[in-house]
Amino acid sequence: MANPSLLILAGDGIGPEVMAEVKKIVAWMGDRRGIVFDVSEDLVGGAAYDAHGTPLTDATMARAQAADAVLLGAVGGPKYDRLDFSVKPERGLLRLRKEMDLFANLRPAQCFDALADFSSLKEEVVAGLDIMIVRELTSGVYFGEPRGIFKEGNERVGINTQRYTESEIARVARAAFDLARKRSNKVCSMEKANVMESGILWRDVVQEVHDRDYPDVELSHMYADAGAMQLVRWPKQFDVIVTDNLFGDLLSDAAAMLTGSLGMLPSASLGAPMANGRPKAMYEPVHGSAPDIAGQGKANPIACILSFAMALRYSFDMGEEATRIESAIEKVLADGLRTADLLGPEGGAPVGTAAMGDAIVAALDASL
Ligand code: IPM
Ligand code: MG
Repeated sequence: MANPSLLILAGDGIGPEVMAEVKKIVAWMGDRRGIVFDVSEDLVGGAAYDAHGTPLTDATMARAQAADAVLLGAVGGPKYDRLDFSVKPERGLLRLRKEMDLFANLRPAQCFDALADFSSLKEEVVAGLDIMIVRELTSGVYFGEPRGIFKEGNERVGINTQRYTESEIARVARAAFDLARKRSNKVCSMEKANVMESGILWRDVVQEVHDRDYPDVELSHMYADAGAMQLVRWPKQFDVIVTDNLFGDLLSDAAAMLTGSLGMLPSASLGAPMANGRPKAMYEPVHGSAPDIAGQGKANPIACILSFAMALRYSFDMGEEATRIESAIEKVLADGLRTADLLGPEGGAPVGTAAMGDAIVAALDASL
């Protein structure tokens, strides 16, 4: 059988730097575990715009559709701020999500023991934290029509549309309930049913799917603003949170800081199963392109490496190898290694991106 294929789209800013460390782990899996991938690389975001005048070419889109899994770094940067909206780097990422129909975005916020005292929240609030945000990724206000900036009388009006169909809500709800059954069996659904009709429908459909097919899972509903507050008040009350595209974007950045740094949070974006039974899938760190530190070799590669671990778990059914990577990271952090984002005001000597990657590889060696 052919080796599974990985398409790497490193993108912009710190994307290529953190992805270089992921490539070391991919190579390690081949050399030391006999898990060999057919790896290819292509451009996305500003890098693709610079080369081709578009943030994602049709050829790259086709390669992403054909790959067993896509690994993405980050897109965007100040250099592209003034570009026309239709060719902004972010459009490349959104096209991948939309055309691959990656409707379930899994963003696990786990607090590593070694970082529990580093979070901006009290240690007892975050120690042992393990929650999963399931963000709807292909609809809602990110894609709804009408949208645009229009002339109305003598002023302009900016319009975006929050739109959800029942089936869009039902399929992401199912993804959340399925995940919950493998975890602590609890789902909290978040919307703004107090002010939005789409929120009323969201709440109804999630409840219907629950009552029909998942009565064994404990389900609660929360308004998203209250959810944000509860997330920083006592995050351990949650197991799986399911929410829409925009609320999920906001809540997952907040959840990331519970774990200490945005540089720690991976994500998996999953769609329907392909002919080979694997889900359509893309894996990316939640952090962005971090233009302020790009090119300096000091970015934290852990979120991107954890995203590859998620690929092993969700695309290739290699949960044990994923755990091996996660344990290696746990060990390196316990040994006191810190990239700059993981140092508090009292400072200390940070390690660079490559040194962190090398240390994780060494910890993998030690795991054999
Ligand atoms: C994310 C990012 C993206 C989003 C941007 C880069 C388009 O913030 O993945 O959370 O808004 O979805
Ligand atoms: Mg975001």
